[in-house]
Amino acid sequence: MNIPFNKPHLTGKEAHYMYQAVADGKLSGNGAFTKKCQQFFEERYGFKKCLLTTSCTDALEMAAILCDIQPGDEVIVPSYTFVSSALAFVRSGAKIVFADSMQSNPNIDAEKIEALITPRTKVIVPVHYAGVACDMDRIMEIANKYNILVVEDAAQAIDSYYKGRPLGSIGHLSAFSFHETKNIIAGEGGMLCINDERFIRRAEIIWEKGTNRAEFFRGEVNKYGWVDIGSSFLPSEVNAAFLWAQLENLDEIQTHRKHLWELYKAELSAIGNRQFVLSDIPEYATNNAHMFYLVCKNLDARSALIKHLKDKGVLAVFHYLSLHSSPYYADKHDGRDLPECDRFADCLVRLPMYCDLKDEDVLEICKMIKSYEMK
Ligand SMILES: Cc1ncc(COP(=O)(O)O)c(C=O)c1O
Repeated sequence: MNIPFNKPHLTGKEAHYMYQAVADGKLSGNGAFTKKCQQFFEERYGFKKCLLTTSCTDALEMAAILCDIQPGDEVIVPSYTFVSSALAFVRSGAKIVFADSMQSNPNIDAEKIEALITPRTKVIVPVHYAGVACDMDRIMEIANKYNILVVEDAAQAIDSYYKGRPLGSIGHLSAFSFHETKNIIAGEGGMLCINDERFIRRAEIIWEKGTNRAEFFRGEVNKYGWVDIGSSFLPSEVNAAFLWAQLENLDEIQTHRKHLWELYKAELSAIGNRQFVLSDIPEYATNNAHMFYLVCKNLDARSALIKHLKDKGVLAVFHYLSLHSSPYYADKHDGRDLPECDRFADCLVRLPMYCDLKDEDVLEICKMIKSYEMK
């Protein structure tokens, strides 16, 4: 058996649309495919304005610029997350105040945020781990009380909801990823969503290297020039064409991933608790089947499970190392212990999950996990 952890899924139309972009002779960004993809998200999820980017990291960097992060401003970020959730703000000079995870899942513990707020707090970054919603009502309540901006890191959260509201539509800004490990992919790719209309005009300018080029092409101004800071955040039409082929199949992809996820759950729930805890989906959240993870009892148990599966040709992998004790940030962190975050760093293991995974593969992996338990 040889089951990888992830395998990019192709719908079959990617090369066709990429060829079409080439044949149309419009290869740079902000062309027809970019507009189609952005409109898809705006219409389907009600995001006020979407801008495709070359990665979610870039979308977060744009968010940091829009939030006007100045050196010394504080940004509250969960420690159990991908580097970019913090890095994007650090590049603008922010001090990261790391927050702990909940006990029941790796998302930021909304009840512990208020104690971290100071007069310098400018942004809270909830990360919807595994595409499962953070407690957004509580987070927005705190943000509104202290006049703080919220940037949702929705890298993994496409097509997922909080109390019926699409993730990415609740904070002032949000960022998605289309990296090849995500549900919908473009190789590398991302998207910034702007829900607070105050930021729309500036976002377009930052996106287009600090120029008002997008306004010029819409005929709103008769020349364009350098009006602000920015960078080249927009992807080429070739990337957008690839993404379009994926978006056309979003429902099929999601239906199949959810089927695989439910199969894992049905097979493993009987032995959950005794050996490990299964992914927790709070009542207020939906499951977009981005990831199927288990939380083992301790680091040794997790290492043994990973080895057991690897010996049988199945690649299961752990995830983040706590950012507050990372080589880059350890001496900048304020010294608080973040025990839940450390526990997930030690104990969480992700099982293979990709659209082309077969039912038989899932059943076989579950059998291996069960046989391991019986030892
Ligand atoms: C939570 C989170 N934020 C940000 C990123 C960065 O995404 P990208 O690789 O598109 O820059 C990732 C990527 O895995 C992620 O999981």
